[in-house]
Amino acid sequence: MNGIKITSEFDTNADFVLYEGDVGNLLPQISDGLVKLVITSPPYNIGKDYEKKIDLDDYLSRQKEIIQECVRICHDEGSVCWQVGNYVDNGEILPLDIILFPIFSELKLHLRNRIVWHFGHGLHASKRFSGRYEVILWFTKGKNYTFNLDSVRIPQKYPEKKHFKGDKKGELSGHPLGKNPSDIWEIPNVKSNHIEKTVHPCQFPVELVERLVLSLTNEGDYVFDPFMGVGSNGAKLRETF
Ligand SMILES: C[S@@+](CC[C@H](N)C(=O)[O-])C[C@H]1O[C@@H](n2cnc3c(N)ncnc32)[C@H](O)[C@@H]1O
Repeated sequence: MNGIKITSEFDTNADFVLYEGDVGNLLPQISDGLVKLVITSPPYNIGKDYEKKIDLDDYLSRQKEIIQECVRICHDEGSVCWQVGNYVDNGEILPLDIILFPIFSELKLHLRNRIVWHFGHGLHASKRFSGRYEVILWFTKGKNYTFNLDSVRIPQKYPEKKHFKGDKKGELSGHPLGKNPSDIWEIPNVKSNHIEKTVHPCQFPVELVERLVLSLTNEGDYVFDPFMGVGSNGAKLRETF
């Protein structure tokens, strides 16, 4: 265990590296296939405090550069998870997963799930229905990939349900460790009264990170977030130090 390093250079001797700076400068320092999971929520190019709204084509080509590099550093049995909402222009929405998908597809990644992250709070729209979900595109680099479903099972809806016929009649029919959490995730977003709230306007809830880290990595694997904000992805990992 070599602890946490805040650094301007990637350091393979550290368990946890916090790089302060443009991810474009960090990526070339990371070797091919090193990380098992890339998980991130990039800027949406909507003019938040931490970004400058630029021409959409320029935004997409910048995203492409970063995604290409993330795929390069991703392990052959690894995953890339891109969590996005909508790009909004003049009140018109453009779902970012739709316009980013061709970039991943050109890189020959395999889409395993388009997870809908549903949450209860957000802006109240007056000229369209209020947006209450975003998505996570989960891609794997190859056809063989790490997926530990048992580590993220959730309680059965009807835990007492039994087989009603056949050899197993009378035995419990559900998986003993719980059910598959499905591709619709009901996780509160981090708004003002949330216990995890920091100064960042768009934090990941730790529960969301936890489900992806536990299912898509094995102990000791590297996780990489190119746009880590206040470091919610690291919060879960830190607990193990
Ligand atoms: C949508 S937020 C992600 C928040 C993060 N998931 C969290 O839980 O805090 C996008 C983040 O990317 C950062 N960012 C934008 N451009 C970046 C760049 N070129 N290199 C590194 N980070 C960048 C922003 O500062 C912002 O914190």
